[in-house]
Amino acid sequence: MAVISLLDVRKDFPFFSQGLVYLDSAATSQKPKVVLDVMREFYEKNNANVHRGVYRLADMATQMYEAARKTVAEFIGAHPREIVFVRNATEAINLVAHSFGGSVVSKDDSILLTEMEHHSNIVPWQMLAKTKDAKLSFVPITESGQIELSAVRHGVSQKPKIFAFTHVSNVLGTINPAKEFIAEAHKCGVPVLLDASQSVPSMPVSVKDLDCDFLVFSGHKLLGPHIGVLYGKRELLERMEPFLCGGGMIKEVDFQSSTWNDVPWKFEAGTFDVPSAVGLASAIEYLNKVGMKNVMEHEQALARYAYDLLGKDPVVTLYGSDNRLNLVSFNVGDMHGHDVSTLLDQHGVCVRAGHHCAHPLMKRLGIPACVRVSFGVYSTKADVDKFMVALQKAKKVFGL
Ligand SMILES: Cc1ncc(COP(=O)(O)O)c(C=O)c1O
Repeated sequence: MAVISLLDVRKDFPFFSQGLVYLDSAATSQKPKVVLDVMREFYEKNNANVHRGVYRLADMATQMYEAARKTVAEFIGAHPREIVFVRNATEAINLVAHSFGGSVVSKDDSILLTEMEHHSNIVPWQMLAKTKDAKLSFVPITESGQIELSAVRHGVSQKPKIFAFTHVSNVLGTINPAKEFIAEAHKCGVPVLLDASQSVPSMPVSVKDLDCDFLVFSGHKLLGPHIGVLYGKRELLERMEPFLCGGGMIKEVDFQSSTWNDVPWKFEAGTFDVPSAVGLASAIEYLNKVGMKNVMEHEQALARYAYDLLGKDPVVTLYGSDNRLNLVSFNVGDMHGHDVSTLLDQHGVCVRAGHHCAHPLMKRLGIPACVRVSFGVYSTKADVDKFMVALQKAKKVFGL
């Protein structure tokens, strides 16, 4: 049962008191006051390093850090020992490419991605392929920005060493049927990394249900601070070598060699960002009170509303289909996306324009850039209406 009504959400976000229309939540989300308060309170009252000191304050900080891990684990249906805190989704993918990919990929092997990946889920694999003399393959997208199951079936039948794909496209908004894709990969013995950067903040996601081998996301897109999460099946994490080395990730260090800590701490080298872990747990508790199903319905309805309004404009080109989560990408006549964004900004409307860290997808769509509006739990229909009014004014500047 939701205990925070969607009608009450907006007032919990101090950011909106300045009157901006913020339509860039897919890039990063705004934060509710409770998250900011929890982090401030941690610094004011609980700040100590974790897993080191034996005094009570250090013990309390450690307990808070590990409780945050448990909250994250429960949120995605995992065990706490399968949750590794990292800097962001990008670092999580790099960790898997290095520590898992590094041990399973050899010369002439292939790594399977899709044509709709963010650079964060392309470049680490390119680096791995380069070091191992392996190659990358890409599952194609259809004209309407979907990935067909038959294309995945074909891709995994080539026996890549890993299949890494995005749950929700940050450009097209497409929700991929991840469970079916993963089952198809597993039939061929192919392990899967799911980039859930755009899905975990905005829809219910369970690693148990999906059966993915790895899953990554960033706290800053989920009403939280700048911290990232890697989920990995425990037996895989156990088998993997560490990514970064130093304090905290060891059991014993001798002059010439060391032994590793248990998972997940084996992957958490150095002094960790405890306030951010605590802040992320608070953001998750906030979203749980709204209910992830309600969050999804709300954001999806706003995207549909914007998609329909934009679709009525003859000079607007829309990308993707109506299988979308919480964002809409488009172009206006032959205006460059940056011009659209700059003109909207003059009316207090913040939208993202450019290549959206997806150069290969832009090439596939045959465009240099596009404009994207994306919604968060705090977004409203009034935001969309204000954006549409500002867009008409922006078009006039270009005589459209
Ligand atoms: C689909 C997807 N993957 C990965 C990332 C990378 O996230 P971060 O920059 O937080 O590491 C993003 C960020 O926009 C994204 O949208």
